[in-house]
Amino acid sequence: MRKAFRGEILSVAHDPRDDPDAVRHEADGLLIVEDGIVVARGHHADLADRFADVPTETLPGLIVPGFVDAHVHYPQMDRIASHGAQLLDWLDRHIFPAERAFAERAHADAVASAFLDELLRNGTTSALVFPTVHAHSVDALFEAARERNMRVISGKVLMDLGPDGLADTPDLARSETEDLIHRWRNKGRLGYAVTPRFALTSSDDQLRVAGDLVAAYPDVLLHTHLSENVHECAAVAARFTDARDYLDVYDRFGLVGARSVFAHGVHLSDRACTRLAESGAGVAVCPSSNLFLGSGFFDFGQADAHGVRLGLGTDVGAGTSFSMLHTAGLAYQAALAREDPLDPFRALYLATAGSAALLHIDDRVGSLEPGQEADFTVLDCAATPLLDRRTHGATLAERLFALQILGDDRAIYRTYVLGNCAWDKMTGFTARIMEAS
Ligand code: GUN
Ligand code: ZN
Repeated sequence: MRKAFRGEILSVAHDPRDDPDAVRHEADGLLIVEDGIVVARGHHADLADRFADVPTETLPGLIVPGFVDAHVHYPQMDRIASHGAQLLDWLDRHIFPAERAFAERAHADAVASAFLDELLRNGTTSALVFPTVHAHSVDALFEAARERNMRVISGKVLMDLGPDGLADTPDLARSETEDLIHRWRNKGRLGYAVTPRFALTSSDDQLRVAGDLVAAYPDVLLHTHLSENVHECAAVAARFTDARDYLDVYDRFGLVGARSVFAHGVHLSDRACTRLAESGAGVAVCPSSNLFLGSGFFDFGQADAHGVRLGLGTDVGAGTSFSMLHTAGLAYQAALAREDPLDPFRALYLATAGSAALLHIDDRVGSLEPGQEADFTVLDCAATPLLDRRTHGATLAERLFALQILGDDRAIYRTYVLGNCAWDKMTGFTARIMEAS
């Protein structure tokens, strides 16, 4: 079935630093969607005659691609805003106790549902997600994602050096991951990521298993944390005395490649940046989390000088908001702390097509180009009295920047998944249709 959406449309398919024509904007645009896929897009004046017979919905606000959260933890949503500690203590005090509760499948189901609804309320339609060490935490998330038709990539967390109640073994890491890959890989809109938590929670044997898995299943992603916090970096250096730097630890186990996504990368050596760029691996920048845990400011200048591929992640529960708009605004502030002003169109790119490229789903989502899946969100520049005042009569760049600095879930008027409205600020969630495939 064909549907048409009329409104102001904006997307940024490529990094505007590399491609001056990356920004695509139709002030009065038309998006034609057939069976969930964009089949045409352009100025209303150019397309209206050709698609005159297609039922058309006019959307108020700015239509942008659905956000792609390149790094987020679903089991941590109820521990967001936990006070008082940097990374390693925060994990011990707040996060590991929360993750232990996922031994119970019903708990995982309930949190997975609430988590995905929260993504949709924030305009996020795709995400790369950490679950817990429990294999059924992946089942819970994937089943909830299929109920909503969302693009979700995840994989059982590997952590044989984890605390009591959360430690697996190298053998379990291998067998449970293989079983999950066989059951879930590429089912509908889902994808799998081999997910060692970080270097400190896996033995050498388990990191070797992760490398074997990545080599055996070349279409999965590798998802982990890298160089986030100074105390973590010191502990990694103390354990892996032969490694040239933190990234080199992962490299020695075959974990650095074009399908590797590393969260944070706040404290990277120039050598590591060179190696990231040469391997095609990417970094999910998580400014909200970095500020909350006192980890530091991501160095956009250093990463850009080396050509490191970047996306944007909320990293909830260390991140303090599910909003990718708000996270884009914090990316601007983190960049400026190192005297790099982040362009609002580039920030939108990082939150959509950039993250999609990192997750290797940019052929499917992220820029609303014909042939892509029709995941989009409608932004309301008048969502609050202040946003309304600040954006009244403003240029597109000014409106976009104001949305990033002042906006959050309040600015999400609607979220569409495969051309169907999944969230409407006025009426809430739409009834769900289980995916057929
Ligand atoms: N490093 C290892 N585990 C975690 C986690 O759960 N959150 C963050 N922010 N960093 C980590
Ligand atoms: Zn994280």
